[in-house]
Amino acid sequence: MTDTHPTGPAGQTVLHVLGARPNFPKAAPVVRALAEAGVAQEIVHTGQHYDALMSDVFFADLGLPEPVANLAVGSGTHARQTAALLTGLEEVITERRPALVVVYGDVNSTLAAVLVCAKLGVPTAHVEAGLRSFDRGMPEEVNRVVVDALADLLFATSPDALSHLANEGVAPEKAHLVGNPMIDSLFSALPKLDPAPVVARLGLPERYAVATLHRPGNVDSLDTARELVSAVLKVAEQVPVVVPLHPRGRERLAEAGLVPSERLSIIEPLGYVDFLSLVRGAALVVTDSGGVQEETTMLEVPCLTVRPNTERPITISHGTNRLVTPATLPAAAEKALAEGARTPSGELPPLWDGRSGARIAGVIARWLADGSR
Ligand code: UD1
Ligand code: UDP
Repeated sequence: MTDTHPTGPAGQTVLHVLGARPNFPKAAPVVRALAEAGVAQEIVHTGQHYDALMSDVFFADLGLPEPVANLAVGSGTHARQTAALLTGLEEVITERRPALVVVYGDVNSTLAAVLVCAKLGVPTAHVEAGLRSFDRGMPEEVNRVVVDALADLLFATSPDALSHLANEGVAPEKAHLVGNPMIDSLFSALPKLDPAPVVARLGLPERYAVATLHRPGNVDSLDTARELVSAVLKVAEQVPVVVPLHPRGRERLAEAGLVPSERLSIIEPLGYVDFLSLVRGAALVVTDSGGVQEETTMLEVPCLTVRPNTERPITISHGTNRLVTPATLPAAAEKALAEGARTPSGELPPLWDGRSGARIAGVIARWLADGSR
C-alpha cells in the first residue's frame, strides 16, 4: 500500500467512500491524481465486500492507501445492508467533516454515501455518472438514478452517459465528460499483465475462455441459473472455460450444474492483476459484469455479455462486446472464437486514454479552490 496523503484540517479533506470490488479500480487513479495535486484525502471502506479476494488484494494490486475506517457493514438484504451503510456513514462523515465526498459506480455503498451527504449538507462527486440500462429491475439502475439526482459534481465516462444526465435535467455545469478511470487502472497495470504464469498455475491450455457470473438476474433463481449453466457447458465443449466465481450465487450455480470438470475450472475470485492477465490471454470472455465489458474492449478480447441490456453501449459500438441470452450464447461463442475480436468503429471510446483520473482531479481541485462549497 502507498502512503496515505496527509490529512488536511477538517473541512478541507476529500473523502472517498469505497466498499465493493468494482469501486477499487475506479478510485485508484483519482486518489493518485488528487495526491499529485496536493489535495488532502481519506478513504472510508464500508466493508460491503470483505473477503480478502474481494477487497484487500485490490488495495495491494492498485496501490490504494489504507482506509481511515472500515465500517464492516457486511452482507444482507438491500434494506438491511443499506440501513447499516446509512448509519455507519452518517457517523463517520459527521466526524470527519470532509469538504467533498467522492463516490464510485452504482453499488449500495455509493447510494448510501450520497443519501447521507445530501441530508448532512456535504457535497458529493459521482465518478461514472449517467450510465443507464433503463432497466429498473437492476438494483444498480435504481442506485444510479438516485445518486445522479443528488450528486453535486458528475463525472461521465462516455458521451451517452453525459446525454442521459442532460435528459434528466442535470445542470450542464455540474457534469463533466472525463473518460474512464477504470481504464486508467488498466493502463497502469498493463506492463504487469502476463497471462503465462496464471495460465500455468491454473493448469489451463493455451487457448481458453474466461467466464464471470454474478448478476442477481442470472444467478438468484435456480431456473435462470440452469439455463445459463447449460449454455456455459456448451461453450466449454468448444473451448476450456475458467470461472473465477464471485461469492454471490455460488451455491445456486453449483446446484444448477456448474461443477468442475476437465473442460471447466471453477476457481476463487482472482486478484486484479491475475484476473486481467487471464483476460488478456483469453480467446473469449463470457460475463455479466459491468467493468469487464469495458476492460475487454480495451484489451480487444471478444466479450459476450449474458444480459438483456447494458448501461455501457459504447463497449458494443466502440468495442468487442455483444449481448447474448443463454439461448444464443453457444452459437455466439462459436462465431466469436472463429472471428476473434471485432471493434466495429475501429476506434476505442473517446477519452479512454489513461488520463481520466487527472481530469477528475483537475475539476475537483478547481472546485475546492473556487470555494464552491
Ligand atoms: C455488488 C453490487 C453489484 C456489483 C457487485 C460487484 C449492489 C447492490 N450490488 O453485488 O452492483 O456488480 O457487488 O462484485 O451493491 N459475499 C461474500 N463475500 C464478500 C462479499 C459478498 O461472500 O466479500 C456474498 C454474500 O453472500 C452476499 C453476496 O455475496 O450476500 C452478495 O454481496 P453484495 O455486496 O450484497 O452484492 P453483490 O452481489 O456482491
Ligand atoms: N475482477 C477481478 N477478479 C475477478 C473478477 C473481476 O479482479 O475474479 C475485476 C475486474 O477486472 C473489474 C472488476 O473486478 O476490474 C469488476 O467488478 P465486478 O465484476 O465484481 O463488478 P461490476 O463491474 O459488475 O459492478
